Amino acid sequence: MASMALTTGTAQAIVGGNPASTKDFPWLLSFEQLIQRSDDTVASWAHECGATLVGPNKALTAAHCVPGLIPDRARVVQGRDKTSSRDGKTVKVDSIWSHPEFDGIPANGNDVAVLTLRESLPGPYLTIASADDADLYTSGQQATIAGWGAVRSNGRLSGQLRAAQVSVYSEEACAEDYPTDEPRNGQFCAGFPEGGVDTCQGDSGGPFIVDGKVAGVVSWGNGCADHGSAGVYANVATYAPLLRHQIGDVPAEETVRAG
Ligand code: ARG
Repeated sequence: MASMALTTGTAQAIVGGNPASTKDFPWLLSFEQLIQRSDDTVASWAHECGATLVGPNKALTAAHCVPGLIPDRARVVQGRDKTSSRDGKTVKVDSIWSHPEFDGIPANGNDVAVLTLRESLPGPYLTIASADDADLYTSGQQATIAGWGAVRSNGRLSGQLRAAQVSVYSEEACAEDYPTDEPRNGQFCAGFPEGGVDTCQGDSGGPFIVDGKVAGVVSWGNGCADHGSAGVYANVATYAPLLRHQIGDVPAEETVRAG
């Protein structure tokens, strides 16, 4: 897999990425949940997913990151590159909105959720793609992916933020990789046909950034970075009216487009 990443000629999240700093991704949040593992006596906070700060107290994530989750057992961390450190600022979640038509299966679409935080976090807040951003999804668009997820299929979480670049697929190329799941409704594919660079477990809910906007939310894939299995992302533009309603208006001077 690692050698494949080299053949793509891109920055080698994430699979095939490079270590990154939240200083360069100030709106990227680690979404932690209070988890009781079977061998633990007490529950502890653990990184589960990524999320994007899109308003002072609003974070965009994936619906499959929140089923059955009680807000009390959820929090986000801003500005922590290494999950083992205590850097950055932690804010608890006040309420959780999940797309009402999400059926528990990411491949069926609607894999978007918005967290409302108990306190406001400092900006910048990343701008979400809107209905007139169709150009962000044209085949070959370059995108940035970032997260604390696994660096290979079935691997452990990275523990260190990583980022990489991938390309948007055409609908046809996406359907070739997933002929039965047809990830077309409210979803799109991205990666490289030869594999090597992709999001992976633990990156879910994080942003897929094109032209400085959140164009996608990390949703699913067959394995990670495998040849012929692109990463699949929720299409933010498709859900923009619903998301905007949940996020509310963010003063334009406080929003940014990532550089
Ligand atoms: N479902 C995964 C998560 O919960 C994300 C998987 C993305 N997979 C991929 N091959 N791009 O973290």
